[in-house]
Amino acid sequence: MHPTIFVIFGVTGDLAAKKLIPALLSLYAKKLLPQRFAVIGFSRRSFTREEFRELIRDRMNVKPGEFKEEDIKHFLDHMSYEQGMFDDRAGYARLAERIAEVDRRWGQCSNKLFHLSVPPSLYEGILENLEASKLAEPCADETGWTRVLIEKPFGRDLATARALDKLIGKLFDEKQIFRIDHYLAKEALQNIIAFRFANQLFEPTWDRQSIDKVHVKLLETSDVTDRGDSYDSVGALKDVGQNHMLMMLAAVAMNRPDSFSAEDIRAARAKVLGRLRPAFGSAGKGCNTRGQYGGYAAEPGVAPGSETETYFRLKAFVSSSRWKGVPFYLESGKALAESKTEIDVYFKGGKDDDKRNILTFRIQPDEGIKIKFFVKTPGYEFKTEPKTLKFKYSDVPAAEWHAMPNDYERLIHDAFIGDQTLFASTEEIMASWKFIEAVTKSWKKLPLVIYPKGAREIR
Ligand code: BG6
Repeated sequence: MHPTIFVIFGVTGDLAAKKLIPALLSLYAKKLLPQRFAVIGFSRRSFTREEFRELIRDRMNVKPGEFKEEDIKHFLDHMSYEQGMFDDRAGYARLAERIAEVDRRWGQCSNKLFHLSVPPSLYEGILENLEASKLAEPCADETGWTRVLIEKPFGRDLATARALDKLIGKLFDEKQIFRIDHYLAKEALQNIIAFRFANQLFEPTWDRQSIDKVHVKLLETSDVTDRGDSYDSVGALKDVGQNHMLMMLAAVAMNRPDSFSAEDIRAARAKVLGRLRPAFGSAGKGCNTRGQYGGYAAEPGVAPGSETETYFRLKAFVSSSRWKGVPFYLESGKALAESKTEIDVYFKGGKDDDKRNILTFRIQPDEGIKIKFFVKTPGYEFKTEPKTLKFKYSDVPAAEWHAMPNDYERLIHDAFIGDQTLFASTEEIMASWKFIEAVTKSWKKLPLVIYPKGAREIR
């Protein structure tokens, strides 16, 4: 791989400590990074190189014994720091000089990957400064690409997402933009696509003739923790609905892509998202709920009397011949009885749920696939009873399991090699915002239900 410099804006933040640095370290330990690579952190506070490395070492979220001491030490040797305010051009000039210094040392024009690990309110300033400092321009025509990794949320609504896209588009082409939705990189989510298209068994029944409904759930026991401040202006629908859950839905509902190239897979996801509509009028009656857990409004950072939802349930349809009339339910919430992310596909059959085949894709925990089917109860009568066929990732031998990359490892790896399959395209982002705006419009008069923490069912 060509020498690469990975620049992290907001390197002292939580995301860098919890996800990015451990992922880079793991890729380094697996020898999946280029031989010549450097990580340059950029943030507001002032540190010497040594202080910075100590801070990273102390804060990075790795388990004792997870990596060899010498790997950690050598990895940290690749890291350096540049202090700067995100809106101050002088800091970017110093950063450019530091980058140029590495290129001079290596004697070549390296690739540059910029990761925006900062609150979205800072994106604009950083992008403008990247442009002004010419950091986004490759240093040579043939070698040395530049790419940008940008975290969700991509915009707050359709208009702001478009504006952000326009701004990024001034600096980078679509091929250089890696919009992160870490759910796309979860193994169990990618497996839905593999499972559907590698097994002839299900695809012929994957439509309105055989499928009765689909339920996409992302349930969490945790509350807003220390994120009250940022969460309160977002709410559950935009926090996980607009992105993670729509990507789950897309994996289940998309058509077979023309090929399994990044371009075709992204196009297939975008197409189905573009056809998603909330259930309006009588079709949606009684199927929409907005909830808030008791005590939320008193959480630090949350506005008193806040009406932000921490739970939602909604019904939608995909307007295509394949899915006409099949309801897709999306449900997500915080402070619930159980943490569980899964998709249940209910086949047609008996009237009650316990009389039908149900295919469940479990994304987490206990990743796997489960099928409920019926067998004859042994004996003289003709009676059937439900049984389950299961595949669990945890049944895979430990050695193979450890070879599985976690979400951020996979994302960073793919950004290095330029594979955009697991990143959201501009079409997907715009389609998802259009859908979310239609939902919020249809919710205008929906009352907010207060539910007790740890609730199992919210009505
Ligand atoms: C984040 C949301 O994008 O995803 C959080 O902002 C949510 O509110 C989280 O808890 C869930 O991700 P994971 O990987 O922990 O399931």
